[in-house]
Amino acid sequence: MNKPIPKLVDLSLQDATVEHSRLSAEINHHNKLYYQDSTPTITDSEYDEIFSNLISIETLFPELVTSISPTQQIGSPLVSGFTKIPHSVPMLSLDNAFKDEDISDFVDSLRRFLKLSVNEPLELVSEPKIDGLSVSLRYENHKFVRGTTRGDGNQGEDITNNLKTISEVPDQLPKTAPKTIEIRGEVYMTKSEFQELNTYQKSLDEKTFSNPRNAAAGSLRQLNPKITATRPLRLFAYSWGEIDANLPSTHSGFLKHLEDWSFPVHPLTRVCQEVEEALAAYRAISEARQDLDHELDGVVYKVNRIDWQKRLGFRSRSPRWAIAHKFPAERAITVLQDIDIQVGRTGILTPVARLLPVKVGGVLVSNATLHNEDEIQRKDIRIGDTVVVQRAGDVIPQIVTVIEEKRPSHLSPYQFPHFCPICSSKAVRIKGEVARKCTGGLICPAQAIERLKHFVSRNAFDIEGLGTKHIEAFWRSELIRDPSDVFRINEKSLSSRDGWGEQSAKNLIEAIDSKRTITLDRFIYALGINQIGQATARLLAYTYSTLSNWRHEMNEAQNKNSESYKELVNIDGIGVSVAEDIISFVKETNNQKMLDDLEQFTSVTDFQSLTTDSPLTGKTIVFTGALEEMSRSEAKTKARELGAKVSDSISQKTDFLVIGTKAGSKAKKAHELNIRIIDEASWLQLVEK
Ligand code: IVH
Repeated sequence: MNKPIPKLVDLSLQDATVEHSRLSAEINHHNKLYYQDSTPTITDSEYDEIFSNLISIETLFPELVTSISPTQQIGSPLVSGFTKIPHSVPMLSLDNAFKDEDISDFVDSLRRFLKLSVNEPLELVSEPKIDGLSVSLRYENHKFVRGTTRGDGNQGEDITNNLKTISEVPDQLPKTAPKTIEIRGEVYMTKSEFQELNTYQKSLDEKTFSNPRNAAAGSLRQLNPKITATRPLRLFAYSWGEIDANLPSTHSGFLKHLEDWSFPVHPLTRVCQEVEEALAAYRAISEARQDLDHELDGVVYKVNRIDWQKRLGFRSRSPRWAIAHKFPAERAITVLQDIDIQVGRTGILTPVARLLPVKVGGVLVSNATLHNEDEIQRKDIRIGDTVVVQRAGDVIPQIVTVIEEKRPSHLSPYQFPHFCPICSSKAVRIKGEVARKCTGGLICPAQAIERLKHFVSRNAFDIEGLGTKHIEAFWRSELIRDPSDVFRINEKSLSSRDGWGEQSAKNLIEAIDSKRTITLDRFIYALGINQIGQATARLLAYTYSTLSNWRHEMNEAQNKNSESYKELVNIDGIGVSVAEDIISFVKETNNQKMLDDLEQFTSVTDFQSLTTDSPLTGKTIVFTGALEEMSRSEAKTKARELGAKVSDSISQKTDFLVIGTKAGSKAKKAHELNIRIIDEASWLQLVEK
């Protein structure tokens, strides 16, 4: 059992560090017993006591708060005991909006994309955004066969047996429903049932939950479905995944089907004509919110016509045809105890506020983002200030303002460091940029470690079991210095290390080996090049198809007069600044060596476009002039969906120039280069085939 900790005021930093890691280990151990094994060995109040001791230490020694501290884990920890299941149709997220203008902008962008005339009505469906956990329910031959969590959007966890315990999840669909269909919706707990559950848990001296969402999450991810069965979970359905029948013509029509098939659909769902009605629905839902027995965190607007939804399609993480209008953030007052400077993968110094822990909307907050130097100056935030903290949805908490009346007279303005706190190299601000950057490059441990963390992260090489702690330790002992070293780890190099048994070493090596084959887009993303996020990496993979071609073209592109440079900057969505970052990455000899090594250790699969049999597959297209039937964005999206590369300017590599009205010099140039020029009607024929 937990030993009483020495009187806090007497603790030195060294003692506090030892005590902090002892308490953290103890909490992690009990978390595992509770969440994974469902066999807790201590009561909840004993658990709470250990937890509050940890908070007290972190309050006195904020430098001990790291992202892996148990106090920083929001919600229930990930349970690894579930089988992972790929989603046949990804489970995406939604773009967030906070202001009415954002919604008007959203509707304007829909109209532009679809090229709707001003008189053409555009119906939206407004649905309450339920604060729960999204699930996918798969029905085959009308029978519920599998249920999964959202997971990372591409694969979720198999929680079928837990979902079967929820009475609102139909076990059987009527014969009128499609034979194979995946229904998507949100599992949640009502506020009153959450209170009752907590009272009951308390009476048994069991763990209580901080809010209904956490209670629903903890209940749904039980390895033992018998425990889930005792928890009051409910469902609202709102969408579909895979489906083997034609969809109705509208989203509201689909929701009607859901009701016919006995799925609960939120009663405050409305069909709205235009943005004004949608915003009125938002206000009505905001007002109804406090009287509802479940928590909402906003309103979702969706384009009602499904053919339009299809045309609008998806960005990398969210549909273009929907948006979440979030309710205003929740706020609380606390004290700013310190400002820590973190150094990221690209050397940017990011200030982080260490706060006296405070509950904001049911979640304990002890850190907040301060963005950058200018933000601290603009708000004149000083260490020791009383501040207003705000939390909105999944967004990192922020400091909204300082309460100046509460400022003790001795506080002086915050001085942002001009040297890297990790490697002491100079930290400079490039003209025109808000960020101050460490100039230490990879001699800076923080940058090197962050780059390694990025390399193995979920959307990159996705190596399970190689977490922050291991990376930091491996880096310090020089086992891993460069990303390619990850693939050099072997049983011998691990066997001599403390804490690595035969089995744990074997597990890690297996995990690494299983990720040696990787798609080109993930590979490029993993390199951690400045400005290359997932979407840009995909664009590059899409354009260059193979690793050797990409490397060759990027080497050529170092010469700014080359065709390769022109092609790179002209890729729609790249441009000069991103191209510069790619070129400075490939220019670096260390990076070339790393790429050579990685090529040796891994197998990078060529990028396959979604369609391989369209007349546009592999072709490079340029658009010019205004199209009548669809917007430029829709045309580009369509071209990419059909496997084409979209460029901004004509070169030898262009296969087609699609011309609309008022086509300018591009048509002339295409003509000179003998490039096929097609008009809008032929373009439509090509894409409709
Ligand atoms: S639609 C591609 N509708 O919000 C469509 N999502 O922030 C994606 N959510 O992951 C979802 N209520 O878990 C949709 N009426 C609603 C929703 C809803 C809650 C959740 C869902 C989603 C998250 C995105």
